[in-house]
Amino acid sequence: MKPVKVGICGLGTVGGGTFNVLQRNAEEIARRAGRGIEVAQIAMRSQNPNCQITGTPITADVFEVASNPEIDIVIELIGGYTIARDLVLKAIENGKHVVTANKALIAVHGNEIFAKAREKGVIVAFEAAVAGGIPVIKAIREGLSANRINWLAGIINGTGNFILTEMREKGRAFPDVLAEAQALGYAEADPTFDVEGIDAAHKLTILASIAFGIPLQFDKAYTEGITQLTTADVNYAEALGYRIKHLGVARRTAEGIELRVHPTLIPADRLIANVNGVMNAVMVNGDAAGSTLYYGAGAGMEPTASSVVGDLVDVVRAMTSDPENRVPHLAFQPDSLSAHPILPIEACESAYYLRIQAKDHPGVLAQVASILSERGINIESIMQKEAEEQDGLVPMILVTHGVVEQRINDAIVALEALQDVVGKVVRIRVEQLN
Ligand code: HSE
Repeated sequence: MKPVKVGICGLGTVGGGTFNVLQRNAEEIARRAGRGIEVAQIAMRSQNPNCQITGTPITADVFEVASNPEIDIVIELIGGYTIARDLVLKAIENGKHVVTANKALIAVHGNEIFAKAREKGVIVAFEAAVAGGIPVIKAIREGLSANRINWLAGIINGTGNFILTEMREKGRAFPDVLAEAQALGYAEADPTFDVEGIDAAHKLTILASIAFGIPLQFDKAYTEGITQLTTADVNYAEALGYRIKHLGVARRTAEGIELRVHPTLIPADRLIANVNGVMNAVMVNGDAAGSTLYYGAGAGMEPTASSVVGDLVDVVRAMTSDPENRVPHLAFQPDSLSAHPILPIEACESAYYLRIQAKDHPGVLAQVASILSERGINIESIMQKEAEEQDGLVPMILVTHGVVEQRINDAIVALEALQDVVGKVVRIRVEQLN
């Protein structure tokens, strides 16, 4: 059988890795796909020193690839959501299948792209968009399709996890670690996407859609970054038996879906609390399988290429199949997506870590306890440190039981109004993940 012809748009880190894996493992890949996969064109703006592309036709114009009649599958690896959207829509319009690693594109424009792809009977595959080399989309979409999924929680940004790990293990400063992640090629072009949780929210939006059968709704995800975290909180969390991770959490409740990315205390003995450096992990809880955990490299040249090429093999196998009988893009049949709403963060439920800086006076703890108890907030543990030398203030650290966020917000307003409480109360959500 003739090889399938693919066009790679973007020969950066992931594009270069994809090209190299396709060359190196060509024989194994063909044995799996049933046909060879030939790179028939590459759109790129500059040479990638890691790739030997001699003999492959080159263009500087990605739209040439989308219009090339020779090409069956367009691989979009340019990133962003303006040109990338136009490129993908053009490729679909021209009847080409698409493989993309672009989480922002899928999270923001996925509903439109999948509708167009259905109209044209083509596949848009996006395994590489979430958690790099971990085949978590496939696991949820296909492997767990018997389950009613209750929740999932993931460390889905390698850069953020690398920063938190270095801060905790080596006491390194935030900007220093970020610079290293950028040099290693893990960080996004705009690193605020990593540290403010936007990249993780893109990925969480995609995971929640395929887990719960809801449309992609990135605009409703709650996002909180890690830039305000202090080593003091990292150390207090440790003393209480927790680790702080930048977690994406999606949970189904009777009222709606929680969709939130924020720093989170996790019990230190959970496997996921021990996922360090740039590694990613996603925990999925289904009613039949219970909790399952997917771990691996969340970014990088060849781990991400592994997912891109895995998708290519899937597309090659399914190309001749009836479009109606393929695996749906978002796991559920498009006419069966649910309108269950995404909850605002105030309606989400979680436990909380609170750090209160108080003057060293009698009765402060009693006042704090009464503010919490008046609002039905149950304290799980409490730790009070000695007064700090420089300001004489006493750090009081509390962990509560689960409560709706609005109640904690009210309590924090009341706590900050106390005469003996100084400055802002630090609040970090806590998840037991059991
Ligand atoms: N900037 C992302 C990360 C790359 O650090 O995880 C992979 O999406």
